[in-house]
Amino acid sequence: MFVRNAWYIAAWSDELGDKPLARRILNEPVVLFRDKAGKAAALSDRCCHRGTPLSLGEVVETGLQCGYHGMVFDGAGKCVHIPGQDKIPDKAFVPAYPVIERDRFVWIWMGEAVKADPARIVDVPWHNDSEHWGHRHAVIPIKGNYILMVDNLMDLTHLGYVHKRTVGGNPATHVEAKMETARTQSGVRFTRWMLNSVPPPTYVAAWRFKGTVDRWQEFEWVAPSSVLQWTGAKDAGQGAPEGDREGGFQFKIFHGLTPETETSCLYFWASANGFKVRDAKAADEFAAALALTFDEDKAIVEEQQRRLGEFGEDWLTNIVSDGTRVQMRRIFDGLLTDERKLAAE
Ligand code: FES
Ligand SMILES: [Fe+2]
Repeated sequence: MFVRNAWYIAAWSDELGDKPLARRILNEPVVLFRDKAGKAAALSDRCCHRGTPLSLGEVVETGLQCGYHGMVFDGAGKCVHIPGQDKIPDKAFVPAYPVIERDRFVWIWMGEAVKADPARIVDVPWHNDSEHWGHRHAVIPIKGNYILMVDNLMDLTHLGYVHKRTVGGNPATHVEAKMETARTQSGVRFTRWMLNSVPPPTYVAAWRFKGTVDRWQEFEWVAPSSVLQWTGAKDAGQGAPEGDREGGFQFKIFHGLTPETETSCLYFWASANGFKVRDAKAADEFAAALALTFDEDKAIVEEQQRRLGEFGEDWLTNIVSDGTRVQMRRIFDGLLTDERKLAAE
């Protein structure tokens, strides 16, 4: 079951070149393409003639041409050309999905089209501010349900265990971190402070700290599956907890999870270097270090998915560190209940 009435990331804008791109989203085959005018579009990836995936075709002047017998569909899914035939039958169309390109993302709406309100798209303004936030991004396929990745981001006590070699740190310090969680209009936000703590390897590689640090992590989950992160550290006692977070090591990360199937998802992530501003090499090195971190999460979540696929979730036990994650799940379950009601109407 998926939350259908929501915006999901279908692709990074720069993934859409002159060729169609096949994706599975909410268990539906989708073909994305950019028409000759540069506008992004998304159609059901099945030609209405003989069912061939349209992603096997090519982008032509008037739209996307099926690679089997050459019918052409525009960005709204309407057939605009049939080789050797003038009359286009009414039934000659494929379903289209609303698409909006913003902040380097191609967002897609898989639910009822009339409800596709662009105002509900998560804003990520720093993606357009390379002056201050050197941007790098990627997408990684995960063989796990997307909400397991959101779970992962809502309980950072895993850092001390899963990310020992990268962004981890002392596990005990993580468990003791001061944590404040608050409901927002569309999700949950939490702030976590690890005062006077030992900086983890990725931080040390990126920044010259004098010794221990005051480290913060601010995470905001926007339902159903976007997480905005602002993290950093300054030398301990330099005023970061009091509000002076300028001039130290800091970065932003956007995490966007798009369901492919019930047991797989696409993890769109972007890092923004806010510590060595306008330093392309630092942004590259930091993104490369983060990529290792996300591989560590992927490895855990994929194995977790295998067990949950086998045994379900009813036997699982919550512990204290699940507090924020459980709040997130409650809101998420509410959305699923709303979807079920809608589907039953
Ligand atoms: S299957 Fe697409 S044109 Fe025939
Ligand atoms: Fe992680």
